[in-house]
Amino acid sequence: MRIPLTKLARYLRFAIAQTICLLYCCNVLPQNTPAPSTNTRVETKQEDPWWKHMVVYEIYPRSFQDSNGDGVGDINGITSRLDYLRDLGIDAIWICPMYPSPLVDFGYDISDYTAIDPLYGTLADFDHLISEAKKRNIRVIMDYVANHTSDQHPWFKESRSSRTSPKRDWYIWRDGKDRGHPPNNWLSWFGHSAWTLDPATNQYYYHYFYTEQPDLNWRNPQVRKAMYDVMRFWLDRGVAGFRIDAVSRLFEDPNLYDDPILPGKNSYGDPNIEHKYTDNLPEVHEVLREMRHIVDQYPGDPILISEADEPNITELTRMYGNNDEIQLPMDFQIADVNRLSAPEFRRLLDEIDHNPAHGQPFYFFSNHDQPRQWDRYGDGVHNDQIAKLMAALLLTTRATPLLYYGEEIGMRTTPPQRKEDVQDPIGKTGWPEEKGRDGERTPMQWDPSRNAGFSTADHTWLPVPPSSAEYNVVVESHDPHSILSFYKRALALRRSEPALKSGSYVPIDRNNPSVLSFLRKSPGGSDSILVVLNMTGEQRTLTFDLTPYGINQKNSRPLLAAPEMRGDAVSIENLTVQPFGVYIGALH
Ligand code: NOJ
Repeated sequence: MRIPLTKLARYLRFAIAQTICLLYCCNVLPQNTPAPSTNTRVETKQEDPWWKHMVVYEIYPRSFQDSNGDGVGDINGITSRLDYLRDLGIDAIWICPMYPSPLVDFGYDISDYTAIDPLYGTLADFDHLISEAKKRNIRVIMDYVANHTSDQHPWFKESRSSRTSPKRDWYIWRDGKDRGHPPNNWLSWFGHSAWTLDPATNQYYYHYFYTEQPDLNWRNPQVRKAMYDVMRFWLDRGVAGFRIDAVSRLFEDPNLYDDPILPGKNSYGDPNIEHKYTDNLPEVHEVLREMRHIVDQYPGDPILISEADEPNITELTRMYGNNDEIQLPMDFQIADVNRLSAPEFRRLLDEIDHNPAHGQPFYFFSNHDQPRQWDRYGDGVHNDQIAKLMAALLLTTRATPLLYYGEEIGMRTTPPQRKEDVQDPIGKTGWPEEKGRDGERTPMQWDPSRNAGFSTADHTWLPVPPSSAEYNVVVESHDPHSILSFYKRALALRRSEPALKSGSYVPIDRNNPSVLSFLRKSPGGSDSILVVLNMTGEQRTLTFDLTPYGINQKNSRPLLAAPEMRGDAVSIENLTVQPFGVYIGALH
């Protein structure tokens, strides 16, 4: 039978990738052999949308790469690192805001939605980034801050100018309750009242976040039109979609009922409250459907990702809508587990895997708002091993994974030591209990040189962590046992193994309190992969009988393990996994 050339080429690429991976993982290749090239791409099944198989990499632009020596990262810096990202094996980058901004919230306070802040470069630089990324099969996802603008945005300046301004209703303005008291007890996520009195017109405006971030009024059709035009502006420039900031906060109850007070105080000294009348109002979904309609008008299947720290699986599932809202809601349920617990991860993975919307799960463990996973899950002794465990959890489950820059090299949270060094305003308000988010936003660690290769400036906007001497891309690239080498192999495996790429997720050994184990079964069911993740500091020996799952093998072929395992057959009836160890083996 004649095999068509394209099919043959695809088969050869697949076979080469598998062979390299097998040789590597069984230690047949020398230790210093570089991880297999991730250019060996397996074609996506025709019927699967691209975003089901993508790996997203989040870039905090201030901290990724500085190209002009001012101590702050920029667009040309990102472009200069695209080869690294391609070789790592990622498919899309989500870049945090780079729009003009007074930088009160480091870009999440936008004063012009359709331009680039000169600090980061120009629109021409941005276009160049898009075209260079495209050459490397990398898509660019923008941050879309829909809930609020900067108080320096021309819309707000006009809105606050008088009670009769044509843009007055673009924001939420209300009279105070009594003299000197805000309209109700709503609190800002960043501390204190969510209302600020504007003396010019003697009314309060509402801001879920900082005073300098007034909330847009999404009930106003002109606001919607203006914000949808913003989406079109960037889609026309070739972006692959948006990560929508603070989605669940778009609407507030028009009756302004007080939020229920909960016991205790937060780190700003305010009473705890339930954000009952400002979060997850049903109107949010109407807007999400409209946003989806906009991206659906564009070729290439652009994606909507939502930042939605939903309180439960029901709210999280709602984000998918009827397959007409968000394709990928960020799963904070899983990201917020915050401790290694096999039963807890198992429960949450099961829950989202069976979500009634049949939506694609979207997992992450670190981002620019929460402490990095290296120390959040680390026990202080096995942190590097635990970093590999978390990588395996992220990259082998049935989900679209999101990596935060630097987690692939084991960057750690490095918070400021003194209040006067704090950059993030919430660290200034909440010090010392709340040190802010600087610790997880420090410069990327590229090499052991000055400023870790991030910048040539005398001072970088945040200090480069001392751990950069040991934990950096160059040093780790030469170490086959490094966290980076593990990530590269896991990412390559995800591409080369159909079961990992698009197979089903089948939890096994469901009552095990210490070890999370599951199967991934390829769409046709012919390939199965066993994943075993020991979430404790003690060695564990496991006995698997997989006949109930249609698998009769007693041995598996190691694909990837940490610590590494030698040999080409590993018994699954007597499988020993080291403390926080990872075992991934093929059963076909
Ligand atoms: C969520 C963003 O991730 C965070 O960094 C920002 O401060 C708030 N939204 C306000 O935009």
